[in-house]
Amino acid sequence: MDQTLTIIKPDSMEAKNAGNILAHLEGEGFQIQALKRMRLSQAQAQSFYEVHRERPFYDSLVAYMTSGPIIAVALAREDAVAHLRKVMGATDPANAEAGTIRALYGTSIERNAIHGSDSPENAHKESLFFFSQAELIAAG
Ligand code: CMP
Repeated sequence: MDQTLTIIKPDSMEAKNAGNILAHLEGEGFQIQALKRMRLSQAQAQSFYEVHRERPFYDSLVAYMTSGPIIAVALAREDAVAHLRKVMGATDPANAEAGTIRALYGTSIERNAIHGSDSPENAHKESLFFFSQAELIAAG
C-alpha cells in the first residue's frame, strides 16, 4: 500500500476538529499507520517548510505552525498521495471543493486545517521527519 503524511495543524487542534478529521480520513479508506501529537519548535517548523523559505508567507507560516500543538499522521492507502490531496482540497479553503477537509475546517489560506504531502517522494521524506523507520514499518 502507498503511504502519505498529513499534519493536523494548530487551527484544527484549537477548534477541536482533530477527531472529526481523523474520522473523515478513516472513512476515506486511510489506515492510520503512525500518529504523534507534538508542538513543533521554530527550528523544526523552519526545516519542514524549508522549500518555502523564500516565499513571502514563510515567517508567518512558521509562527502559525509553532503556535500550538499539531498531530502528525502517517497514512496508508492505495494511491495515498493523490487521494489525500483530493479529500484535502485546494490550499485556499475558499477555493476548496465542498466537502473537502479544507472546505469544512479551514479558515484561511494559511490556517487551512491540514497539510498533505504533494508527491510520493515527499511523503517518504516527510514521514521520516516525524517517525522512525521502525515506527512506519511496525504498523504495517
Ligand atoms: P501547506 O499545504 O502545509 O503548505 C504550505 C503552507 O503555507 C500552506 O499549506 C499554508 O498553510 C501556508 N500558506 C500561507 N500562505 C500561502 C500562500 N499564499 N500560498 C501557499 N501556501 C500558503
